[in-house]
Amino acid sequence: MENIHVIVDSMSRQGCNNISLTLVPIDQGITLPLWQAGSHIDVHLPNNISRPYSLTGNPQDHSHYQLCIKKEDLSRGGSKYVHEQLRVGQTLQISAPRQAFALQETTTYILIAAGIGITPILAMAESLDIQKKPFTLLYYVKNHNFTAMKKRLSTGFKYGKVHVLCSDQGESLRSITPEILKTPNIDTHIYLCGPEGFMSYCHEIAKAEGWLNTQLFTEAFHPPTRIADDLATDTFIVKLRSSGQSYNVPSDKTIAHVLQEHDIYVPLSCEMGMCGACLTKVHCGEIDHQDTVQTDEEKSATEQYIALCCSRAKSATLEIDL
Ligand code: FES
Repeated sequence: MENIHVIVDSMSRQGCNNISLTLVPIDQGITLPLWQAGSHIDVHLPNNISRPYSLTGNPQDHSHYQLCIKKEDLSRGGSKYVHEQLRVGQTLQISAPRQAFALQETTTYILIAAGIGITPILAMAESLDIQKKPFTLLYYVKNHNFTAMKKRLSTGFKYGKVHVLCSDQGESLRSITPEILKTPNIDTHIYLCGPEGFMSYCHEIAKAEGWLNTQLFTEAFHPPTRIADDLATDTFIVKLRSSGQSYNVPSDKTIAHVLQEHDIYVPLSCEMGMCGACLTKVHCGEIDHQDTVQTDEEKSATEQYIALCCSRAKSATLEIDL
């Protein structure tokens, strides 16, 4: 699908280090594609960096898209640009929404966010409220100054309860296990979004309390350790199904880098295995999956897809659908 041209209609501060953007189509005659809670878009910034950001707000409002972006301490150029250079009135290109963190059908929901993880979680809360599904939202922040979307959260929801929990008040997840997590219910799903460490800890607690893996759904904001530590020690060959061309992928380069060096287009966005932009079908060979965008079931399905930005091969050759 072609990129959509949008204009930054408004920007507002959302607690310490967070900025909310409202994007509207440049062409007022078009409506933005529909989206569901948990979707994200790729934002192509004027500094030639493309990043995936979760959509937030009400998924039924198609007049605009809303994002909320944290300024990352180790920003590789995406959030830094948004915070320091992007201004109201600037134009951007964005992708259509892509879904990798969808709400599944059940009776009740627990939504847990830490920090900027509130962005998809708030959209889930809006969506459940519209569907009249009961939910509890636990939002973990360092202190009240870090609360994003404060105004919306303080308005409340008809079908959901919101608890903002502050570490400086002794309310962190490590200090207190919320009562609601102590009573597993087979008709309840838990959706988690936040830093990797927070989510693993939350997983540990939930499992210790008796929740099943199938009741837990997550979206990570940080790459898996191995990608952050940079690349593997193995080399292998990637073969393109369309042309039959083969390329050697050395230990210090990703498949995406090697293909780009040979002028082969690879759709990239997060470059951390989180967004799904570069997922490509594999015809032959065994994948060493390193992405977090696919589920364990998808990674072991008959039809296999590889994240070209980070995953590698266990076999000597991989034949991919390019
Ligand atoms: S570019 Fe995002 S998963 Fe590869």
